[in-house]
Amino acid sequence: MTIKVFKTKEELYSEVYEYYLKRLNKQPNITLGLATGSTPIPLYEKLINGYNEKKVSFKEVTTFNLDEYVGIDSGHEQSYIRFMKEKLFGHVDININNCFIPSGENEKLEESRIRYQELLNNHTIDLQLLGIGSNGHIGFNEPGTPFDSKVHIIELDEKTRIDNSRLFNSLDEVPTHAITMGIKDIMNAKEIIVIATGENKADAVFGMIEGPIDTDLPASILQKHPNVVIYLDEDAASKLSKERK
Ligand code: F6R
Repeated sequence: MTIKVFKTKEELYSEVYEYYLKRLNKQPNITLGLATGSTPIPLYEKLINGYNEKKVSFKEVTTFNLDEYVGIDSGHEQSYIRFMKEKLFGHVDININNCFIPSGENEKLEESRIRYQELLNNHTIDLQLLGIGSNGHIGFNEPGTPFDSKVHIIELDEKTRIDNSRLFNSLDEVPTHAITMGIKDIMNAKEIIVIATGENKADAVFGMIEGPIDTDLPASILQKHPNVVIYLDEDAASKLSKERK
C-alpha cells in the first residue's frame, strides 16, 4: 500500500486528477471502476473540466460502478445511475453503452446480479476508484461480508443508512438494501485508488491500513492487494501511527 497524506483537499484531488489524466491518455480504452457518494465528486468535476479543456477524452473508456441501491428507480434523485449521469457521464464524450451499473429494480434483482457478474467476469478493471464507509465498507460490502464474495444483494448497516440519510429527506427513505460488486470483484482490479477525507473516516482508515485483516473491517483486505494507493487528508489520516503520515 502506498499512502499519501495531503494538507488540503485541493492538493489531494489535484494529484488524483493528474494521475487519471496520465492514465487515460496512456490507455484511452481503459476500463475504470467508479464509485458514487461524496468522495469522488471533486475528481469528477476536475475530469469534466479537463474534458472541456480538451486534455482528456472518454470516447473509448468502459466503466463499471460499484453498486446501486435496491428498490429505487433509475430516475430517483439518489439512484446511482442518475448520480453518474449528473456528475460525470452527461458532461463528457463517454459512450453510455459502455457504462455499466447494476440495476437495483426490485422485480429483476436476481437477473441483474447474474448479468453484472457475467460482465465483470468478462472484463478486467484496470483502475478501481474507492471511497470508504465510516464502518470500513468498500462498495456496499458491509462488515462481515466474506472476502471471497462476488456480486450480491446486501442489507445495509444501520451506520451506512444513517451516514447516507444526509442525502434523503429522512432516514426512513434510505433504502435498506443494495446490490454491490463483491470484495473479490474489487480485489480483481489491476490497480486501486482509495480516497478518504474527514475525521469521520479516521477510524476506518486506521483499520484499513494498520488493523488486522478481518471481515469486520472489509477495507482491511486491501492490505493484500499488490497495487493500492491511498489518498488521505490530514483528518482522515489522524489516527495513523506517526511513521505512516
Ligand atoms: C459508493 C460506495 C461506497 C462509498 C462510501 C463512502 O459507490 O460504494 O462505498 O464510497 O460509502 O461514501 P462517501 O463518499 O459519501 O463518504
